[in-house]
Amino acid sequence: MKRGIRKLAREIRNYFAGVEKLRVTPRVSPAEIRRHLEERFDFRQPQPLEELIPSASSLLRAWTLHTAHPRYFGLFNPAVRPAGVAADALAALYNPQMAAWSHSPIGNELERHTLRWLAPRFGLDPDASAAHFTSGGAEANLTGVLVALTHAFPEYGERGLRALPAQPVFYVSEEAHHSFHKVAHLAGLGREALRTVPVDQELKMDLGELERRIAADRAAGQAPFLLVGTAGTTSAGIIDPLEALAGLGDRERLWLHVDAAWGGAAALSPKLRVHLAGLERADSLTCDAHKWLAAPMGAGMFFCRHPESVARTFRVSASYMPDPTRETVDPYVTSIQWSRRFIGLKVFMTLAELGEPGLIRMIETQAELGELLRDRLRRAGWRIVNRTPLPVVCFSHPRLEEGKPSVRELVERAQERGKVWVSEVLLGGRQSAVRACITNYRTQSADVEALVQELDRCVSEC
Ligand SMILES: Cc1ncc(COP(=O)(O)O)c(C=O)c1O
Repeated sequence: MKRGIRKLAREIRNYFAGVEKLRVTPRVSPAEIRRHLEERFDFRQPQPLEELIPSASSLLRAWTLHTAHPRYFGLFNPAVRPAGVAADALAALYNPQMAAWSHSPIGNELERHTLRWLAPRFGLDPDASAAHFTSGGAEANLTGVLVALTHAFPEYGERGLRALPAQPVFYVSEEAHHSFHKVAHLAGLGREALRTVPVDQELKMDLGELERRIAADRAAGQAPFLLVGTAGTTSAGIIDPLEALAGLGDRERLWLHVDAAWGGAAALSPKLRVHLAGLERADSLTCDAHKWLAAPMGAGMFFCRHPESVARTFRVSASYMPDPTRETVDPYVTSIQWSRRFIGLKVFMTLAELGEPGLIRMIETQAELGELLRDRLRRAGWRIVNRTPLPVVCFSHPRLEEGKPSVRELVERAQERGKVWVSEVLLGGRQSAVRACITNYRTQSADVEALVQELDRCVSEC
């Protein structure tokens, strides 16, 4: 055990110290991995922990796409802080059952403390709002839709959607996260209840079109109940016009949920928060600490300014659960999950390790590196095709526009070479572009320069 723990500490140290020397992308086939696992892990004989730890770690090192690599310019997967690694180990070690306050007083209070610190950054009064940790953004978005439904249609909870006189419908932009398709399905609304509203030239939700759709739906006897704005779209980091959406929500009496899964972190920065104006008017919002706040997956968060609607949605009572404690909340009666892992510890420890100034510096540095990348790409003859103050950069090149090579070929070439990771996106459903996001607090200007050189090389070699 002692030797195993020492080996684990060494693996952690070595990975933090040397990840930048690894290939970003793994080179392996499913058959090779399956053969290896079948040969080495038939579970017939036990293996000593001190051997198991380095062998599991070496498999991960060889056959994982290294999102912790400073040249991973990828999806919203951050390099995690050491505090997050330590927190996940402690969470597994103590394995507190977070469902009931009385089973983990410190766990529940520590999550409450963390969420209460974050709430005012999103414009919420911690004494008049509800918040809890989720597995991720998809669960937080599902939570938002369920609570909005319960708020709008009190009979939905007992008698279901069939009791409603009209079909409830809700609105997202074409560029919103695709978790909402699943949410519409899971909530029993049906995927057709999700209205995807076109975007304007800047890839923001087209509010004129939104108003027309709401009016048409009402005229057709449907029951609009929710608007979803995105603060930092997955493809291009676009922020929908949140103020205007909130105004429309007020006029039309519709709940506003803001999916700020990635972009919500910008609310912590005095320089960037201006771009999220209107977020503070949301009825509910999603923010993932496992995106821009450098916590390990999954660390989603759901915030809501209507605690009574949250409580109504998830209410339940079971004789086998511990009695509630006065003045505290049991998360199993205010959220989707029942048994809960101690998600909040890694967020608490990451915030505590960095401190507010460190968090602000991390977020603002990444935004500045996004600007640097735009500048370097332009100088090298690339064309930036999205407009956002956040560090997601979508771009094209005259050669890509001629199809020689295609964006897909360029991206595949870069991924195959394994020095950087970028991806392809389709913007507004029509324009293919290369996408690069600064997701890593260890990425520096030299990595940005290296990315541009690598892309130049790939575009000329393809
Ligand atoms: C804007 C947005 N919302 C929601 C999600 C889903 O979050 P998760 O993957 O944590 O469930 C993502 C994931 O990238 C996202 O970009």
